[in-house]
Amino acid sequence: MKKIAITGATGLMGRSLMTTLSSYFHTLGTGFSRAAGDIHKLDLNNESAITAFLDTHQPDALIHAAAERKPDVCEQSPEQTLALNVQATQFLAQQCKLRNIRLIFISTDYVFDGTQAPYIENSATNPLNFYGQSKQQAEQAVLANSELHSVIRVPVLYGDVTYLAESAVTVIAEQISETQPSKHDHWAVRYPTHVEDIALTLKDLLKQPDNLGGIFHISNHQAMSKYDMACIIADHRNYPRSLLTPLPTPSQTAQRPYNCALKDTRLTKLGISHQRDFSTAIKYILSSQ
Ligand SMILES: NC(=O)c1ccc[n+]([C@@H]2O[C@H](COP(=O)([O-])OP(=O)(O)OC[C@H]3O[C@@H](n4cnc5c(N)ncnc54)[C@H](OP(=O)(O)O)[C@@H]3O)[C@@H](O)[C@H]2O)c1
Repeated sequence: MKKIAITGATGLMGRSLMTTLSSYFHTLGTGFSRAAGDIHKLDLNNESAITAFLDTHQPDALIHAAAERKPDVCEQSPEQTLALNVQATQFLAQQCKLRNIRLIFISTDYVFDGTQAPYIENSATNPLNFYGQSKQQAEQAVLANSELHSVIRVPVLYGDVTYLAESAVTVIAEQISETQPSKHDHWAVRYPTHVEDIALTLKDLLKQPDNLGGIFHISNHQAMSKYDMACIIADHRNYPRSLLTPLPTPSQTAQRPYNCALKDTRLTKLGISHQRDFSTAIKYILSSQ
């Protein structure tokens, strides 16, 4: 059975990767501040700890999901962001190549500027904010190290959260109220994607007979703004939509792209597709909160 190591296994996507992939592969998760139980504590800023981990466990593939992924935090802490998002990824790419381990690096739709959607895998990148720039640099380091390494670009994520503010989607449930008005971005076009669909897609890619390196796009196909998501969540909670105000212009600190629709042309060719209806999935998630 293939051995798959996963960084960021304590995070939103990593937890889903652990749950889904464990049914098909021998999985080995690493985390940092929340590492506990079966999850190994591995500080990705510590290079000797990384090489010791790889030598001890010798995985066949490493899914690198750990990152600083909040654009506003990245702008405020550029050195920390570069260390984790770029330097650690570059080091992992080199060390995995030396050991013949396939690196699967999780990247973002924010490597694009959002002006020319939809984007295919080899469309030119042009990130607007520091987070996107850090992921663009990391992508280049991964792809330069080995043609067997992969870059997986994903859009805004949601799934089983430990607290509502853990994802930019579920936090909307905290922002709306039965009695108080709230404002929501109705400018940027998003494609909220369930982390389990990412995990199922990666399972299918890992089961392909050939190692498929290079760039892959994974994205749900339903387009919506944060305001649209707020309307759906308000309906599920029986809150009046009249309290929700759509904001026609961007309001966040770090600049965000308008529409980064990711076209999954390589997955389509392989016949791999895992999609789910946003309204049904978010209803289920919120019912367990
Ligand atoms: N969330 C989104 O909407 C979104 C959208 C597009 C792309 N992505 C990308 O998808 C990937 C997964 O995102 P996510 O939302 O699951 O992230 P997340 O929930 O914020 O989790 C981040 C993970 O990184 C780990 N980490 C932080 N600092 C570390 C360090 N120094 N050493 C080792 N591990 C460290 C954290 O471990 P501890 O918590 O244990 O410290 C945690 O497991 C990221 O690469 C992100 O850029 C996310």
